[in-house]
Amino acid sequence: MTRLPLRTRLALLATVTVALITVGVCTAAYAVIRYELGHQLDLQLAQSATLAARQSRGEPPGVLSGECRYLAAPACAQLVPADPADDPAGRPYLLPVADAARAVAAGAHAPYYTNLTLQGHPVRMLTTPYPAGRGKALQVALRSDTTAKGVRQATALFAAISVAGVGLAALGGYGVARRGLAPVARLTATAERIAATRDARTRIDVPAGRRRDELARLAASFNTMLGELEDSVTARRRLVADASHELRTPLTALRTNAELLARSERLTPAQRDRASAALGRQIHEVTSLVNDLIELARDEEPTALVEEVALVPLVAHAVEAARAHWPGVRFGLEVAPGAAGVTLPGVPARLSRLVANLLGNAAKFSPAGARVEVVVSAGGVTVRDHGPGIAAEDLPHVFDRFYRAEGARALPGSGLGLAMARQIAEAHGARLSAERAPGGGALFRLAFTAAAPPV
Ligand SMILES: Nc1ncnc2c1ncn2[C@@H]1O[C@H](COP(=O)(O)OP(=O)(O)OP(=O)(O)O)[C@@H](O)[C@H]1O
Ligand SMILES: [Mg+2]
Repeated sequence: MTRLPLRTRLALLATVTVALITVGVCTAAYAVIRYELGHQLDLQLAQSATLAARQSRGEPPGVLSGECRYLAAPACAQLVPADPADDPAGRPYLLPVADAARAVAAGAHAPYYTNLTLQGHPVRMLTTPYPAGRGKALQVALRSDTTAKGVRQATALFAAISVAGVGLAALGGYGVARRGLAPVARLTATAERIAATRDARTRIDVPAGRRRDELARLAASFNTMLGELEDSVTARRRLVADASHELRTPLTALRTNAELLARSERLTPAQRDRASAALGRQIHEVTSLVNDLIELARDEEPTALVEEVALVPLVAHAVEAARAHWPGVRFGLEVAPGAAGVTLPGVPARLSRLVANLLGNAAKFSPAGARVEVVVSAGGVTVRDHGPGIAAEDLPHVFDRFYRAEGARALPGSGLGLAMARQIAEAHGARLSAERAPGGGALFRLAFTAAAPPV
């Protein structure tokens, strides 16, 4: 059964159920009709027996009335004595006399009905004690053709109804399975098409008005899933396209410088120094770009690397490194009361990278000698600089990959830093936002939980 297709199984199930119900109802109706017809005949026999007893007070044993041959004739009746010796001589009985009939006459047997064939006709006979005289049994019989015919007709009728019912059930079952499973068939076809073409843009039609049923909900969830798949595929494609685009320029410059240095004997020492310094810088740039891309391509924190990170030492360490890297910028670190000793689950290397990115941006966009203020509080970190700040129209985009504001294009960088920083923040359940600091400059806010106080 499980090897059959779902549609066939459903059709079979519906057919068998409806067919069983039809056959069951027909059988029950047939049984009732059969019983009623038989019961009618028995009642008639009992009435005939009462009538015959009343009309024949004190008669001797023998035939009382009638010929059982005619359909419309009244019941034929006879009186049977308990002792065969009392049988009337010379006048044979109309109805067969069994031992049970003698026993009824003797009062030793309860009244009973018998079905017989008399002169080629079906007959039903009642044997009951004769009320107007002891030691005798009254036997009355009626032709049962009509009853038998009624039963035969009922049998034929209900058999026909059952056969038609089973046929209709089969048709209905097939129809129900076909109609009911049509959306599933569409769903399957779409899934197969996607599997074959690898095109996640395909969607399943959810007909209006069916939004509530299970299949429509399944189709809707399937569409949602496809939407997410499409987003993810698009994001991957964009990342690869962006990355190859971004890598092309620095790699070309790198190759140019490398080729230049390969023919170093033709260069003056000053030219050689410049070329090798440029090569070093470009290698550094490409390395950090590649590292950023790898960070971005990573989706989730590998849980094995997660540990309790002490926030203040981590930020302090990043500030130390920044001071060494940008001696021209004055980094100030302030630890708010309550922040000391705060720890949070995270990956230390990635959190350091996040903070270093913010500090790097602040230093890069700060004029020489400007201050960068870093504040650590229990809920997060803020980094504020006194550079040009971020224009209002750039604010919504600074976290986009490869986005660099007009004024930043002359400075080194690829525009990946903040995209990566936000991704790290989100992976740690934190929020990273940018704003324009009052009094000029940019302010970056890293908040670790939604419930944490603003830092
Ligand atoms: N502190 C800041 N002050 C002014 N503008 C900023 C500041 N930080 C970021 N921005 C703007 O946001 C853009 C994106 O920053 P992001 O760190 O992503 O890229 P980047 O610093 O240009 O390059 P990368 O970090 O990849 O080397 C910057 O190009 C700049 O326009
Ligand atoms: Mg940056």
